[in-house]
Amino acid sequence: VEPDADWFAEVRDLLRKRNATLLAHNYELPAIQDVADHVGDSLALSRIAAESDADEIVFAGVHFMAETAKILSPDKTVLIPDARAGCSLADSITADELREWKAEFPDAVVVSYVNTTAEVKALTDICCTSSNAVEVVASIDPDLDVLFLPDQFLGAHVKRQTGRDNIHIWAGECHVHAGINGDELTAKAAAHPDAELFVHPECGCATSALYLAGEGVVPDEKVKILSTGGMLDAARATGARQVLVATEVGMLHQLRKAAPDVDFQPVNDRASCPFMKMITPAALLRCLREGRDEVHVDADTAARARRSVEKMIAIGN
Ligand code: 13P
Ligand code: SF4
Repeated sequence: VEPDADWFAEVRDLLRKRNATLLAHNYELPAIQDVADHVGDSLALSRIAAESDADEIVFAGVHFMAETAKILSPDKTVLIPDARAGCSLADSITADELREWKAEFPDAVVVSYVNTTAEVKALTDICCTSSNAVEVVASIDPDLDVLFLPDQFLGAHVKRQTGRDNIHIWAGECHVHAGINGDELTAKAAAHPDAELFVHPECGCATSALYLAGEGVVPDEKVKILSTGGMLDAARATGARQVLVATEVGMLHQLRKAAPDVDFQPVNDRASCPFMKMITPAALLRCLREGRDEVHVDADTAARARRSVEKMIAIGN
């Protein structure tokens, strides 16, 4: 299936007939982003899903994102074009592992990144995304221990920003972002000394970016640790002519649209998420024609998970 004008028209027509809204994450293929009603980061898309008055939400993203939409809108039909689109970060902690960890720290506040399963969210006090993780942790009584999961690099960033030492961090990672390493970033920054750096906090190189700034290799103000939504705001405001981008490569499409005069270069051009890319033009068309794959979350799990997701949505609003 080619994402041509006929495909675009059929997708839009089916969305209208189903009274459905199509949400696409910033890492989706360019054609999927362009045909969507809304494109955004995890937090923005959760907020839109919670407020939507469509009958159906079609989520062009990975499974935990569609599950989060279902948790927030249990009465709506939530569809994902391919239910096999998982996430290596969400897979890095199970509900049983979290139960055991909580038993070790019974009084701790559990903060889970939104990249987790519904079962893990149901055992969580408050969820966060990369755009509000620092605010979420800063909102917690400084005397209480925090269990932060599952991403070790985002956890290290939050620990640095909040200056908290009673935060315990799970050793999970996203294989796509972990693979964007410090050596690559250092080499790219040295080759492009005038460029700004936009770095997603899930990256293996997030620490190196701050190190480069600390050592004066790159001026402090040129290094920005940002969520994908934060990168778009920064792109619109930047005075730089070139920006090196450390995140999944799908992000470049929205960045180039937001600031066409800026030269955005990936730090690692092989950093492509195989799960996000399972949402193909053919899969989207099949989803809208056949009404599948539908996302289900058990009602009791959803009710418990909803409390932690709603707290996340309220912070940084
Ligand atoms: P954000 O869009 O919230 O920055 O999340 C990045 C990500 O890896 C989602 O899978
Ligand atoms: Fe998960 Fe990483 Fe893919 Fe995001 S980029 S969906 S965190 S595997």
